[in-house]
Amino acid sequence: MRSSHSASHEATGFSWRAIRMIWPYLAQYRARIALALGCLVLAKLGSIWAPFLLKHAVDTMGAGGAAWLKAALGLVAAYGAARFANVMFGEIRDTLFGRVTERAMRRVGLRVFEHLHGLDLDFHLERRTGGLARDIERGTNGISFLMRFFVFNIAPTLFEILVVAGLLAWNYGIAYAAITLVAVLAYIAFSIVATEWRTTYVRAANLADSASNTLAVDSLLNYETVKYFGNEAHEAARYDAELGRWEEARRKNRLTLFALNAGQALIVALAMTASMALAARDVSRAQMSVGDFVLINAFMMQLFMPLNFLGMVYREIKGSLAAIEEMFGLLAVRPRVADRPGARPLAVSGARVEFRNVAFRYQAEREILRGVNLRIEPGTKLAVVGASGSGKSTLVKLLFRFYDVSAGAILIDGQDIREVTQQSLRAAIGIVPQDTVLFNDTLLENIRFGRPGASDADVQQAVRMAHLADFVAQLPLGLATRVGERGLKLSGGERQRVAIARTILKRPPILVFDEATSSLDSKAERLILEALAEIAHGHTSLVIAHRLSTVVDADCIAVLDDGRVIEQGRHEELLAAGGAYAALWRNQQT
Ligand SMILES: Nc1ncnc2c1ncn2[C@@H]1O[C@H](COP(=O)(O)OP(=O)(O)O)[C@@H](O)[C@H]1O
Ligand SMILES: [Mg+2]
Repeated sequence: MRSSHSASHEATGFSWRAIRMIWPYLAQYRARIALALGCLVLAKLGSIWAPFLLKHAVDTMGAGGAAWLKAALGLVAAYGAARFANVMFGEIRDTLFGRVTERAMRRVGLRVFEHLHGLDLDFHLERRTGGLARDIERGTNGISFLMRFFVFNIAPTLFEILVVAGLLAWNYGIAYAAITLVAVLAYIAFSIVATEWRTTYVRAANLADSASNTLAVDSLLNYETVKYFGNEAHEAARYDAELGRWEEARRKNRLTLFALNAGQALIVALAMTASMALAARDVSRAQMSVGDFVLINAFMMQLFMPLNFLGMVYREIKGSLAAIEEMFGLLAVRPRVADRPGARPLAVSGARVEFRNVAFRYQAEREILRGVNLRIEPGTKLAVVGASGSGKSTLVKLLFRFYDVSAGAILIDGQDIREVTQQSLRAAIGIVPQDTVLFNDTLLENIRFGRPGASDADVQQAVRMAHLADFVAQLPLGLATRVGERGLKLSGGERQRVAIARTILKRPPILVFDEATSSLDSKAERLILEALAEIAHGHTSLVIAHRLSTVVDADCIAVLDDGRVIEQGRHEELLAAGGAYAALWRNQQT
């Protein structure tokens, strides 16, 4: 599959903002930057000096005389040295500066990564994660590109052009400088206009590129479905149709590139011809030596060579600037949930959890929870039951403080969770969610994620407590087995038990089970309930359940209906009351 890294973002205009944004990340290496700039100057001195040496060599050879060969050879050697110095100092500059760029890329990348983990759940629900990863990659690559091409290539070249034009005007008259400057300006103007004109075609080609890529990825991800329906030929035809669009877009892209390159070449040829013709005339009038003629030719070649890439570089620089600004734009997003200044860590004693008059809405228009009052005494188990969509999982998200309550408060051992650090709050709660997603890594590492420093022996013990030991014993690679993308090589029940083992390792005082068994068959459910009963013993736990049979032993059962607690009590009490719970219970007995 082809990758489509070429920037599809276009900035509205050139700006120094991106460079200002990057500067703090570069500033760490001031000395290196100064050295690199020094090398840049030396390299340019070499390249400006070389044509003069060439001129003197040519003139010496023309003059004849006794010692001419020796002198000419000396000049040629100096010429070679100047050219070598030009390239060498350029390489040293790149080597010195590479480190600066890479460190900046690393620091910016890490900063954005940390920042993204600090943002709220809503931000991530609204963005495609793949897109975020691409934003970071594009942004950091943009930094590298901007440094390499703009700071060390285009800007110095423009400077060199001014110096050379000055030298030409001083030595040979204003006409040479004028031709050079006009040609360079025409060249730049043409490149920019033509590049802007090409933008639509380039973008169409990039779009076609990512469309065909997306289709291929999506189709291969749905490999099983394609096979179930025997639709390979259909998929191939769809892919080929996309590839056809891609081919067509590339064709237009190539033709416009041809126009750009041909126009640039024409401008260069015209400028070269004009200045050489002028020089030939001056030589014929003996106002100029043959060496001067050679010098002017050398300068022209030298000036236009780096400009050859200008069209590409111009577009890429614009793309880089846009990508960098986009990446820094991510840093500007403020999390909706943040620690209070001076927030203290949560101090857990018995782990009493209390929802006090909690109201919550995701969006202003729709109330999800309305005045919920719940209390879980230390070491007891509260079950919350209710129809799908009644707000049960929302309670859990609020407890983890993925969102802040709209009204009321959630307290743990008397401390409002908004007053304590998020880190300490989340460290105190363990969860077994309805659907566990695993990292594409080994079983061992997935379980150890519960407490990254845990020893192998601790992991083994958690495996036993989570009733995973028999399963692991069957695996040829045991805990070293890789679980596949999102853990899909494991069955649902096995994934749930991995989640339980993780939580056991974490050893939190508060446990939450959010419909942890609802997608499992009864055998898997029994295994998991046994494991849960063991680890929940003596812990404060909140159990959200669909099947009521799993919560009959709870110390308290709350029935949630449309964001309201409509009944609360022990199993027998609720049955005796003959309300909503009793009706649900009767329903599930059939
Ligand atoms: N991030 C969200 N943004 C908007 N609405 C949401 C979001 N998450 C859940 N909801 C809505 O909130 C309601 C309660 O959801 P949830 O707490 O998951 O229900 P339950 O777990 O009881 O099935 C649902 O109607 C759902 O559509
Ligand atoms: Mg739910």
